[in-house]
Amino acid sequence: MEELEPRHLMVGVPLPWDIYTKGNRLILRKGNMILNDKQRDQLLKLGLYVRSVATPEDYTAPKPVNEPFNPFRRLDQVYASLDAMLARPASFRHEFGKRIRSLAVVVDETVQKAPDACIGSIFLLPFTNYSSAHSLHVSILLAILMQRLGLTLPERISLLSAALTMNIGMYEVQNQLYHQALPLSDNQRMEIDHHPEESVRILQDCFVGDELWLRVVLEHHENWEGSGYPYRMTKEEIHPLSHLLYLADVVGAKLTPRRYRDPVRPNVALSQVFMNRGKSIDMQYAALLVKELGIYPPGSYVRIRNGDVALVTHRGANASTPRVMSIASGQGMPYAMPIPRDTRSAEFGIETSLPAADSIKITNLSKIWGYVLA
Ligand SMILES: [Fe+2]
Repeated sequence: MEELEPRHLMVGVPLPWDIYTKGNRLILRKGNMILNDKQRDQLLKLGLYVRSVATPEDYTAPKPVNEPFNPFRRLDQVYASLDAMLARPASFRHEFGKRIRSLAVVVDETVQKAPDACIGSIFLLPFTNYSSAHSLHVSILLAILMQRLGLTLPERISLLSAALTMNIGMYEVQNQLYHQALPLSDNQRMEIDHHPEESVRILQDCFVGDELWLRVVLEHHENWEGSGYPYRMTKEEIHPLSHLLYLADVVGAKLTPRRYRDPVRPNVALSQVFMNRGKSIDMQYAALLVKELGIYPPGSYVRIRNGDVALVTHRGANASTPRVMSIASGQGMPYAMPIPRDTRSAEFGIETSLPAADSIKITNLSKIWGYVLA
């Protein structure tokens, strides 16, 4: 038996375990809900125990039947479901929190199974609405980092749920801004400034009561310099997981292009983070991000020594030797079939990273990464 910590007991969320008192007496069955803070406090005073706190099966989303694993298709499905939910949260009401958690589980599992393809999808998977795509990108980055941070399953799912819903309070504005080169209007500025609080309000209207999820959404634009919004919190006041989401949010935004500006190259975005480590960004988080994404992350483009343009598909044994596929000659002529190249060799070593190659559209992601399409 494991003793429950207060942070495990969330108001308004179906219990993922049977709960016992010290004498092994069952007092609350799995699926019941703690209704309010008073009831929660009374229960905590008793001393509560569960068979095991981490129970992945309780959070597991329904799996596609008889479908071969394909991370790109899965993430595309997550994107489509998420977009529908962020656009019309009220129509999901009581189901909203549960469904978002299911999507969080899919992201967590997909990243664990295929981290390189998931990183690649941030750069390459097409989307229509930026707001939901960005939230998915950020949740993928978080899932990559969380693999090394030793968080519990409930913490991971709460944090990923927060990433997926952090901007629900400015869904329309964020989609507009993706296409907008003009400065912000006063109304847009106001909506942005208030969106953390508005997101929490919408989540609570949908009966989300997970305290960690709500807190992290509220704090995801607070920063260590004390100039964040909405509360200009200090470093000490900000929850470490809010800071982790803040970092993933900033990096995710840099990596994706806007309609009117190119993305920052991954190596430049990561070096900006690394230079701020210990100052505005947590030292451990910054180092982990650079280590996990490398200077040539999957999904980015490089020029190799024979002149070819190549697509990075997998991280390698060290940062400078990822696995790549040549997709075009030095003159920009696309190859009919991508050609695997060994970047450890003198002939095909990486010379430099390249901006996202608009002229060379990658449409067959599953094939390049070796996943079944059917
Ligand atoms: Fe935000």
